[in-house]
Amino acid sequence: MNEDGNAQTVAIIPALCSDDEVDTALVDLGGVTAIERVVNTCVAAGASKVMVLRRAIAAPLPAGIEVEAITTGDKSDVSDSLRIALLKLPREADVVLIFPVGHALVEEDTVLALRARLQRDGCAIAVPTFRGDHGYPVAMTRSVFSELDLGVPTLQDLVCRDAVRVAGVATVNHWVISDLRRPEDRSAARCQLSGQPWSTLAQMYRHRSHRSFRSDSITDAQIERLVDAARHASTSSFIQAYAVIAVRDAELKQRCAVLCGGQRHVAEAPVFFAVCADLNKLARACADQGTIVRSDSFELFLQTTVDAALLGQNLQLACEAEGLGACMIGGARNQPIEMARALELPDHSFVVFGMAVGVAADDPPARGRMPLAGVLHWDRYDSSDILDVLRGADDGMRDWAKRCNAEQGGYNGRPVDEVKGWSERMARMWGGESAYAKAREALQEELRTLGFEV
Ligand SMILES: Cc1cc2nc3c(=O)[nH]c(=O)nc-3n(C[C@H](O)[C@H](O)[C@H](O)COP(=O)(O)O)c2cc1C
Repeated sequence: MNEDGNAQTVAIIPALCSDDEVDTALVDLGGVTAIERVVNTCVAAGASKVMVLRRAIAAPLPAGIEVEAITTGDKSDVSDSLRIALLKLPREADVVLIFPVGHALVEEDTVLALRARLQRDGCAIAVPTFRGDHGYPVAMTRSVFSELDLGVPTLQDLVCRDAVRVAGVATVNHWVISDLRRPEDRSAARCQLSGQPWSTLAQMYRHRSHRSFRSDSITDAQIERLVDAARHASTSSFIQAYAVIAVRDAELKQRCAVLCGGQRHVAEAPVFFAVCADLNKLARACADQGTIVRSDSFELFLQTTVDAALLGQNLQLACEAEGLGACMIGGARNQPIEMARALELPDHSFVVFGMAVGVAADDPPARGRMPLAGVLHWDRYDSSDILDVLRGADDGMRDWAKRCNAEQGGYNGRPVDEVKGWSERMARMWGGESAYAKAREALQEELRTLGFEV
C-alpha cells in the first residue's frame, strides 16, 4: 500500500521483439513509440514502477523512458519472461498490471477501471472486455501473479484457472483486443491516429473472411438493420436491381450448403444471405408501363450484377462493424438453377454470391493484399514495375502461409504450402486447363434459363 492506503501497482510490459520484421515496441504512433505510449499510460494511471521485458537481440529502448528493463533470453516467450519479472517484483507491489506493448492504444481510463475493479470484493483478476471478448492489459493481485511460479504454464492459463475470481470490465475501446503485432491492426492504428477513434478505414483494414461460427443466433431486428444499411450503397441509375434472401431455416441452409459445394460454414452460420441480381422488379415496372424489360442487354446484366456486389460488400462491412464475422460464398453459383429453385427466386434473378454470417469462432490472420503499386496508378496505368508487384504478391502469399501454419496449424485444417507464391497459384487456378473455368462452363446457359438472355 502507498501512503494514501491505495494498492501499489507495478506495470509489466512484455515487449520482447519477436522474430517478425517489425519491433512492435518501436512502432511510431504519431510521434511517440508504442513503448513510450504504454509507459506514459501506466504512469498516468498511477503505476509506481514500470518493468519492460525485452529479448537480448532487441534494439535499445528510446532514451529517456524511466523503466526497469529486464533482458530475457532470445528464445524466452512471454510466460518465461513474466516468471523472470516475478523474481524481480518489488516487495511493496500489491497489484501487477500486465500490459503487452501491442495494446499500446489502450487508454489510461481502462487501466484505472481495472485497478478500481480489482479493489472490489472477491476480484483477484480484472480483464477488459470488448464485445464480450477478453483483452489486455490484465490487472491481478500479487498472490495470483505468484501462481505463475507454481506450475501454471501461461498467463492465459492463470486467467482461465478459476472464473469466479475474474471480473470483466466492459470497454468500448477495441484496442484491448486489437494488437499492433498484426499488420492489419497497425494499419488500423494509423487510421485512428489520423482521424476517428475507430474509423471505417480501420474496420476495412481488419477485414478477414470468417469460416467458423458460434451457435449464437442473430435476431431478425439485427438482420433487418444490416441489410437496410447495406442497401444504401450506390446503385446504377437508381435501378436498385438486387435482392437479399436471409436464410435462417436450418434445413434450407443445409440445402444451400450442399449447393455451394458442401461448404460447412454455410450450414453452421446462423444466417446465410443469398445476394441476388434481381431484374424482377424492373421487369414488372416495365410491364406495368406497357413495355418489356431488356433482359438481353449485357449492359443491364452488368448493372444488376454490380449493384448486387456493391450491396454485398456493404453488407459484409456492416456485419464487421457490428462485430460479426462473414464470408462471401461464390459457391452459390455452382448450381444456379437449383439455388434459384430452393429460394423460390422469380424469373430474371440469380444468386450472385452468398454470405455466411455469425459470431466468429475463428481468428484467422488477415491475408493482406498485393503491393499497392499493382492497384493504384497515377493519371495513367503504369506496368513498368509489374515484376516487383508480382514478387511482392508472391512474398505476401508466403508470409500469410507461414502465419497460418504457425498460428492456426494451417488453413481449413490443412497445412499451407509456404513456397508457392501468388503467381503460381493464380496460374494454376485460371491458366490453361483451369478447373475453375471448366466448373462454371455452363453458367452462361444457366443464366439464360433464369431470364438473362445475354
Ligand atoms: C465474390 C466472392 C466469392 C467468394 N467465395 C468464397 C467461397 O465460396 N468460399 C469461401 O470459403 N470463401 C469465398 N470467398 C472469400 C475469399 O476466398 C476471400 O475473400 C479471399 O481469399 C481473401 O481473403 P480475406 O477475405 O480473408 O481477406 C469469396 C470472396 C468473394 C469476394
